[in-house]
Amino acid sequence: MFQINENYQKLPGSYLFSSIAKKVDAYAKANPDKNIIRLGIGDVTQPLAPAVIEALHKAVDEMGKAETFHGYAPDLGYDFLRKAIVEHDYKARGCDISEDEVFVSDGAKSDSGNIQEIFGPDCKIAVCDPVYPVYVDSNVMAGRTGEYDAKSETWSNVIYMPCVAENNFVPEFPKETPDIIYLCLPNNPTGTTISKSQLQEWVDYAKKSGAVIIYDAAYEAYITEKDVPHSVYECPGARECAIEIRSFSKNAGFTGVRLGFTVVPKDLTCNGVSLRDMWARRHGTKFNGAPYIVQRAGEAVYSDAGRAQIKEQVAYYMKNASVIKQGLMDAGYTVFGGVNGPYIWLKTPNNMNSWEFFDYLLENANVVGTPGSGFGPSGEGYFRLSAFGSYENTVAALERIKKL
Ligand SMILES: Cc1ncc(COP(=O)(O)O)c(C=O)c1O
Repeated sequence: MFQINENYQKLPGSYLFSSIAKKVDAYAKANPDKNIIRLGIGDVTQPLAPAVIEALHKAVDEMGKAETFHGYAPDLGYDFLRKAIVEHDYKARGCDISEDEVFVSDGAKSDSGNIQEIFGPDCKIAVCDPVYPVYVDSNVMAGRTGEYDAKSETWSNVIYMPCVAENNFVPEFPKETPDIIYLCLPNNPTGTTISKSQLQEWVDYAKKSGAVIIYDAAYEAYITEKDVPHSVYECPGARECAIEIRSFSKNAGFTGVRLGFTVVPKDLTCNGVSLRDMWARRHGTKFNGAPYIVQRAGEAVYSDAGRAQIKEQVAYYMKNASVIKQGLMDAGYTVFGGVNGPYIWLKTPNNMNSWEFFDYLLENANVVGTPGSGFGPSGEGYFRLSAFGSYENTVAALERIKKL
C-alpha cells in the first residue's frame, strides 16, 4: 500500500493567507453592507506597464505564425532575457554574474520553495523571524525541520534569528552554526533591510562557517536608500556562498503573469560539486520553462520605456507606503519599514496580540491587514499593512484607522 509524505501532516494549520481569506469572507458574508479595504496580501493592483503589454501583444502575434512560433523554451530561459538581466541587474551594479548562471523561472515562490531540494536532508536552516513562510514550510515538507512545538510555534531543528525592534530588525549571527541561511531583504513582512556592510558580514560569516546563503531579493526595486545593497553579489565573496532569487512580481506587477529567476554562481561548490550544475539538472528535469510570451514581457521590463514605467509604479506604491506610515504615526502607532520596502510593520496597540488586532481592525475599520505572528513567533505583537492597494483605498483606510 502506498504511503504519504508524513512531513505534510506536520504542517500546522493552513497557509497564512488562506486563513485570512476565510476570516474576511466570513465577515463579508455576515456584513454585506460593509466596504472592506484589503491591505493584507502582498498582491499588486496596478495594471501592467504599457511597454510590457506591447511586448505581450507582439509575442502573442508571433506565436500565431509558423515562422515565428516558439515551443519549449531553452532550459535556462531565452538568451534575450538572461542578457537583459545580467546587464541591468548585475553588471550595472558592478556584480560579476554571467548569463549561464541565471535560471529563468515562473517566479520566486517556486524557486524559494524548490531550492532546498539540492541540499542534503540533514542541513540545518536558519531563517529571519519573522519572514515569508515558504522557506520554513518547504523545509518542513522535505523533513528537515524536526518537530513542531505548538506553544512556541517553532520547529525543533530550525534556527530562528529574531528580527525585532530591539535589534532594528537586523538578524544576528546565531549561536549554533547553520548550513543554509535564508535572508529576505528588503524583508517581507517588516519592510526593513540592512546596509551593505551588514550584508558583507553575513557573506563573510557564511564563507567562514561553510554555510550557503539563499538571498531572496524579491523587493529590491523598493530600495530607496543609497547604502542598501540590491544584490548579495555586491558583496565580495558572495559568488562562493550565495544563491539569489528574484521576482518580476513586485517590481513590474507580474503576480498574475509569472516570471522570476535564480542566480547560482559557478564558484558555489560543495566538496567539488557545482551547485550551479545541480540546479541546472533540476531545472532541466522538473521545469519546462516560462512561456516565450512572458519572457518577452520580462525583456520589455528592461527596455528604456519599461524601466521608466515600472519606476513610476514602484513610486506609486511607495507613496502609499508613506501615507500608511505617516497616518499610523499621526494616530500614535509605533511604525517600521515602508522606506526600502512596500510593507509597513506596526506594533499592535494596547498589548493586543496579532490576531486580536486583525479582528479589531476588520470589525471596527473594515480594513484587512496581516497578523505578524503568521510570519514567525517573533512577529507576535506586530502587524503588516501592504502598500500594494490603490492610492484612494490606502488614503480611505488610514482615515478610518485614525478615527478608531
Ligand atoms: C519574499 C518573497 N519572495 C517571493 C515571493 C513570491 O514571488 P513570486 O510572485 O515571484 O512567486 C513573495 C511574494 O509575496 C515574497 O514576499
